Amino acid sequence: MADLVIVGAGPQALTLCCLLLQKRPRWRRRLRIVDPSGTWLTRWQQQMECYEIPWLRSPSPHHPHPNPHALRNFAHLQQRNRQLEGPYGLPHTGLFGDFCRQVISEYQLNEGVLAASVERIRLPQVGSGQMQLALSDGSTMTAGRFVIATGSGTPQLPFWAGAISGNHPPEALQHSDRIHLPSLHSLQSQRILIVGGGLTSAHLALGALRRGALVHLLCRRTLKHKSFDADPGWLGPKYLKAFHAEPCMQRRHRQVLEARDGGSITPETAAQLRQAQRGGALQLHEHCEVHSARWCASHWSVRCTDGHGLEVDRIWLATGHRQGVSQQPLLRQLQQQRPIDLVNDWPVLAADLSWPGSAVHVMGGLSALQIGPAARNLFGGREAAQRICRAVIKQ
Ligand SMILES: Cc1cc2nc3c(=O)[nH]c(=O)nc-3n(C[C@H](O)[C@H](O)[C@H](O)COP(=O)(O)OP(=O)(O)OC[C@H]3O[C@@H](n4cnc5c(N)ncnc54)[C@H](O)[C@@H]3O)c2cc1C
Ligand SMILES: NC(=O)c1ccc[n+]([C@@H]2O[C@H](COP(=O)([O-])OP(=O)(O)OC[C@H]3O[C@@H](n4cnc5c(N)ncnc54)[C@H](OP(=O)(O)O)[C@@H]3O)[C@@H](O)[C@H]2O)c1
Repeated sequence: MADLVIVGAGPQALTLCCLLLQKRPRWRRRLRIVDPSGTWLTRWQQQMECYEIPWLRSPSPHHPHPNPHALRNFAHLQQRNRQLEGPYGLPHTGLFGDFCRQVISEYQLNEGVLAASVERIRLPQVGSGQMQLALSDGSTMTAGRFVIATGSGTPQLPFWAGAISGNHPPEALQHSDRIHLPSLHSLQSQRILIVGGGLTSAHLALGALRRGALVHLLCRRTLKHKSFDADPGWLGPKYLKAFHAEPCMQRRHRQVLEARDGGSITPETAAQLRQAQRGGALQLHEHCEVHSARWCASHWSVRCTDGHGLEVDRIWLATGHRQGVSQQPLLRQLQQQRPIDLVNDWPVLAADLSWPGSAVHVMGGLSALQIGPAARNLFGGREAAQRICRAVIKQ
């Protein structure tokens, strides 16, 4: 039996483990981490590699170590200050990865991840008591407390993509989750339609352009340029004070959506895309959506809502993920066993991010009604870890 089981071994879970072990080293024996990969940060590293992301979007104090200066100190000690980009010190992907490896080893967490997926959760009948978890390897675990840090929800697919019959090769239509740029050696003269307006769409476009493709980037609104997902005022009291004082969860939900305002790309990627546009290899279609797409033996014939047609070889959907209780199997089970208020499918959690009436905490995007617009980011992980840690230590 474990006192605390953390489901998922991404950056949010690592942030919580480090903070807890810093405050209460003896918790090491009472802690279990479960992730199908059996190692830390697998999905994080995969997504950085798949889209060939050169540096993070978040500033240098955002990382899993409890000391916000730790990444800067690491870069300094390793004489890698130049791998902190621009005025916010955005860490290069390699530097961030090396730093995280050092953090994992500093907290002796190398061997700590059990390679399995948690498939079912059973809450005790009433109030407190042991919870039971069923794992993909057939084993069960009991735990007094449980943290769900399983990352983004399910891929968001436009409705027209659902209407396509499957007579095309799989690589002709892919969500960004399935694209691995490094294995696409050449896309010379291939016509690629990328749907989206977030940073993933920009990185995919740049990756395709580097491989010789002709890219159509289709955004349903104007392509927005912002350094961060949300204004930096959301990373401190400037906006969060009023947000936390807001008693109405519907209003908080609206504030989170407005603060992120859909997808956006950074000014640096925007400049690179503009250059490709000038060179003629990229065409940007704003305020435009796909109306329908038909596979014609060797290519797509696409009809857009603005009336024009496109002939392309591949369609890539960089349309993000659906976040919601209904999108996460474990949260669906919790909602069945202990129903709570939802706002547009987001859970109304307690201030310590616990699922009301249980000892299950939720980290990541679905803690946004408590943490704010940066809940799914590294910053959100730090905030969530502090709240959960206080609850764990108090018990
Ligand atoms: C391409 C990309 C780049 C990003 N860059 C940044 C950035 O620069 N800065 C920033 O702040 N944010 C960034 N984000 C947003 C966010 O920080 C990351 O998505 C981050 O990985 C979220 O961390 P996480 O721990 O919540 O989830 P994840 O990294 O997704 O980790 C969740 C883990 O849970 C595991 N899991 C899922 N279900 C189960 C289960 N049932 N049982 C056991 N384990 C399970 C998964 O295998 C996974 O390993 C980026 C997102 C993307 C997509
Ligand atoms: N470190 C990095 O360099 C890096 C790289 C990639 C991603 N990221 C981060 O990862 C997170 C996810 O980014 P993301 O780009 O994958 O997702 P995202 O930010 O959620 O953007 C998804 C985009 O898809 C569009 N979209 C969704 N459904 C659509 C539909 N049915 N039809 C047309 N367009 C649709 C959205 O349009 P609207 O804007 O109109 O809603 C949005 O522009 C963000 O926090 C981002 O900053 C970071």
